[in-house]
Amino acid sequence: MIDEKTFWNRAAPKYVRSPIRDMASYETGLEHVSRHLNSKMRVLELGCGSGMTARKLAPEVASVKATDVSSVMIEMARQSDGPVPENVTYLQAAADAPLAGEEPYDAVLAFNLLHLIPDQEVSLRAIRAMVRPGGLFISKTPCLGGRSLWLWPIIRVLQAFGMAPAVRFDTMGRLEAAIAEAGFAIVDTGTYPLKPPSRLIIARRD
Ligand SMILES: C[S@@+](CC[C@H](N)C(=O)[O-])C[C@H]1O[C@@H](n2cnc3c(N)ncnc32)[C@H](O)[C@@H]1O
Repeated sequence: MIDEKTFWNRAAPKYVRSPIRDMASYETGLEHVSRHLNSKMRVLELGCGSGMTARKLAPEVASVKATDVSSVMIEMARQSDGPVPENVTYLQAAADAPLAGEEPYDAVLAFNLLHLIPDQEVSLRAIRAMVRPGGLFISKTPCLGGRSLWLWPIIRVLQAFGMAPAVRFDTMGRLEAAIAEAGFAIVDTGTYPLKPPSRLIIARRD
């Protein structure tokens, strides 16, 4: 199977150009996220992709460090949509590699990422170490577990040809349990969009 860095470096130009499928759900989900942020927060985003979400949230927080495993994605994030806001930095880093020497963050964000991480348990523990005690881990994840079973054989064929990344389809319950088991208390949830379901989970580090 193709590794995630190679896959996303290849996929980045097309991904960044593609419009968001359901902009209304994206915006409503972001408003929900904003209710848990404030102007004092140092925020780390994992798997930032085009970097658009970091730019949108930047006015509401002290700083956003937006990271992605793909260097091509990071380069495109730096270049898209005008100058990078002063309180945003883009950096190439994998989600399970804590940023050496950094203080833990007030909030760590991961949008459309957790279903792409093969060893979720290890990554969630690494993410916990990036959040300060009492800080937030905010994720939004497509949860197709138990649905769209017809998709699996197609995905397997695409994966065999390096045309799809490793992907897991959890149910919402399974994903929430994994986040809780990693040492977080779930404090709020939402689903944006409802179909196919993408679960927003706001979790506080114990
Ligand atoms: C589906 S895109 C989502 C991008 C963005 N968060 C969004 O919601 O539009 C997944 C992103 O996660 C990145 N990614 C995949 N595996 C990763 C990993 N292990 N660590 C960090 N980033 C990863 C990819 O390069 C890609 O930019």
